[in-house]
Amino acid sequence: MSTHGEMAMTETGQATAASAADTLPEPPARPNGKVKTLGEPIVTVEQVHKSFHGNHVLKGVSLTVRQSEVVVIAGRSGSGKSTLLRCIDRLETIDDGRIVACGNLMGFRETNGRRVALRDHEIARQQREMGMVFQNFNLFPHISVIDNITVAPIRIKKVPRAQAREEARALLERVGLPEKENAYPRQLSGGQQQRVAIARALAMKPQVLLFDEPTSALDPEMIAEVLDVMVDLSHQGMTMIVVTHEMGFARAAADRVLLMHEGSIVEDAPPEDFFTKPTSDHTRAFLSKILQH
Ligand SMILES: Nc1ncnc2c1ncn2[C@@H]1O[C@H](COP(=O)(O)OP(=O)(O)OP(=O)(O)O)[C@@H](O)[C@H]1O
Ligand SMILES: [Mg+2]
Repeated sequence: MSTHGEMAMTETGQATAASAADTLPEPPARPNGKVKTLGEPIVTVEQVHKSFHGNHVLKGVSLTVRQSEVVVIAGRSGSGKSTLLRCIDRLETIDDGRIVACGNLMGFRETNGRRVALRDHEIARQQREMGMVFQNFNLFPHISVIDNITVAPIRIKKVPRAQAREEARALLERVGLPEKENAYPRQLSGGQQQRVAIARALAMKPQVLLFDEPTSALDPEMIAEVLDVMVDLSHQGMTMIVVTHEMGFARAAADRVLLMHEGSIVEDAPPEDFFTKPTSDHTRAFLSKILQH
């Protein structure tokens, strides 16, 4: 296998891609034999610390995610997975370190080496580059599916209504729900609501999608339909950071699987290595626990 750093450099013509990529792990060949080419780093988390009232939840977390990469984050309850995602999307402030996402230093502007905190509307603009999909879907209950999908593009991005609706219909097609545009969330199953939530996130044309346990509130028979949509997105080159314990998804779609333990990343490996030769005792303990079920 040739180095992906070189491939990224040849295709994009950007030397920075190659030099940054040199320090990163090789992405694996896909299970279907195709080799995926990753782009430049798009999310960089450097030595991030976060405490809540003296509870040190993120203890110097560092992570680089490249364009088109799918990174799965697993770990015990309370290990800091949601907090890490929320810090990346600046739903939480950080105490120390820095996060650069989609070209933005999240929460700050740097002038002459000095950091200046951004105002709320400037932070909102940074957040727009990323889409977040939550465990409990968080759809607006009082408006239809298509309105759920179009409200942000129309109000925030000022997309003309007819265009937003046309794009929403294409997204509903993509998530397998073309007939549901006029339904209300309560008329849909959990799996269908989650697929609408994914369509809603995609409607803002994010550069990165963050998922926080997107299937853990679903009945077992609905998990596959949501994971299928996510696997499709990964094949289409969407950059995704996915907190999940669905290890089948990790095997099928992840480029890397991370284990968080007590606020630190203790394993960061391609799925093959994560499952067959983990380096951390915590990963072995985690795997033996989930494989019991
Ligand atoms: N807003 C908050 N205020 C106070 N403590 C918080 C807050 N958010 C998270 N915590 C604490 O931070 C720690 C990590 O929480 P986090 O939600 O990131 O864990 P997690 O790995 O996502 O767990 P789970 O698998 O249960 O979702 C926990 O001890 C939690 O109680
Ligand atoms: Mg969580």
